[in-house]
Amino acid sequence: MEQDVILEIANVTKEFPGVTALSDVSIKIRRGEIHGLCGENGAGKSTLMKILCGVYPHGSYSGSIAYKGKVLELSGSSIRQAIEEGIAIVYQELTLIPNMTVGENVFLGKEPRNGPSIDWNRLYSDTDEVLKRFKLPVDSHEVVKLLGVGQMQMTEIAKALSEKADVLILDEPTSALSEAEVDKLMEILKTLKSLGVTCIYISHKLEEFFRITDTVSVLRDGKVVSTAPTKELSLEKLVSLMVGREMKERFPKGSRKPGEVLFRVEGLRALDPNDPSREVIKGASFDLRKGEILGIAGLMGSGRTELVTTIFGEYGILTAGTISLDGKEIKIGSAREAMSHGISLVPEDRKRQGLILIQTILKNISLPNLDRFSSFMRINANAELAEALKFSKSLSIKAPSVHVAVDSLSGGNQQKVVISKWLMSEPRILILDDPTRGIDVGAKYEIYKLINQLAENGYSIIMISSELEEVLGMSDRVMVMWEGRSNGTLDIAAASQEKVMARATGIEIA
Ligand SMILES: Nc1ncnc2c1ncn2[C@@H]1O[C@H](COP(=O)(O)OP(=O)(O)OP(=O)(O)O)[C@@H](O)[C@H]1O
Ligand SMILES: [Mg+2]
Repeated sequence: MEQDVILEIANVTKEFPGVTALSDVSIKIRRGEIHGLCGENGAGKSTLMKILCGVYPHGSYSGSIAYKGKVLELSGSSIRQAIEEGIAIVYQELTLIPNMTVGENVFLGKEPRNGPSIDWNRLYSDTDEVLKRFKLPVDSHEVVKLLGVGQMQMTEIAKALSEKADVLILDEPTSALSEAEVDKLMEILKTLKSLGVTCIYISHKLEEFFRITDTVSVLRDGKVVSTAPTKELSLEKLVSLMVGREMKERFPKGSRKPGEVLFRVEGLRALDPNDPSREVIKGASFDLRKGEILGIAGLMGSGRTELVTTIFGEYGILTAGTISLDGKEIKIGSAREAMSHGISLVPEDRKRQGLILIQTILKNISLPNLDRFSSFMRINANAELAEALKFSKSLSIKAPSVHVAVDSLSGGNQQKVVISKWLMSEPRILILDDPTRGIDVGAKYEIYKLINQLAENGYSIIMISSELEEVLGMSDRVMVMWEGRSNGTLDIAAASQEKVMARATGIEIA
């Protein structure tokens, strides 16, 4: 083994029933480098990382892994084993325990003790110390389920970094982070690198590879198609390596003409149902036209998700304001009522709110839409299957068939299933909360096409997005949230990244 190589993955093949997740994969990771790993949804990235940390133990795959010059033989009996070797991972799916505090999660299973009992003061002061060292803005005493997804992600990072790691694996760490938080994470990674930590970095936000990595490996269909120094790559090159073809544009052209105002929100104010002393929506107004895509931009914590879930009848306690549809005021007290008005919401945290993991792809897509396939109490199984196949094909959901359970799918493919289910329901108003988070560039494009199509057919879309380029590339108008308020709506022709940011940060006030 070469001196400067810390991890050498050689000819690794890993099979699942009906799927070869990894096929003869060989990658060398150099000591102290940040090694990027990219590839489409289902390419095998997470599987490879799970092998490196013992989720799939030695013997469950073929090929070999050398770590610090020795064969890595993780038995899979305990996740501690990889940690003791100095390999830490932040999983793609959050693994936190919702009812515990941040501190309890960070030190879960390794709580500092004072004789027989847990030393709570130390647990929290140690947590604060980790959070402070890595500049993670999370309160160690906060209960995890009350955190936003972004802060949960940061808690995961704190947990991985709470012990000394020689190799840190980050599987899509930024998918839920705002731009400012991504900047912060990049700083953290630079610090870790200067301390000699080796990092493997997975992301679907390809720009990040150019900011932070030294080397990038690309997986396609379980095979390594390239490992190259980042400085020899370009964004276009990376995309074509990933998808196996050239992609000329990131956003498909739509040809839609928004009509009259369909839906209007005026002067909405709402309280946090978990803590009614806190006002979460402090005045939001916007209108939505027929056949329009209205983007909602804003920093994390600006109230975007709170606004749409309140409108959907699922979250805030309304204290002021009106919602009207077709010019008539409506009251929405529950998600059910919202849906009876033809409003659907694709939630931000799809894993928790969107899927029945043990059910098949087919059932997950068709369950909320069963009335479309039933007559006289019978389900037309052929029509159901045909629709599900149509979506799984157009979004290229990677699976042996639509009859496999969704929990065996890769993270991004699970998201495609949730989105299919809502697209199939063809609501009058479809609210998408960050719909392409964690989805690869090729499939993003397909989702954009479907969204455009819906709008062209007269459906109205509200789309929250954390990616400025996406909001600008897809919307007819952009509403910007700032500290719980709507801070103006910009026509796309007049919008730019700078203008949106000026509103999102309150530099400019509508
Ligand atoms: N436990 C499992 N059982 C069966 N198949 C699996 C299992 N885990 C992964 N797979 C399959 O292996 C392939 C690789 O999945 P993996 O999760 O490694 O992809 P990924 O590159 O991480 O994708 P994403 O970007 O969507 O997270 C996929 O086809 C997936 O469906
Ligand atoms: Mg993955």
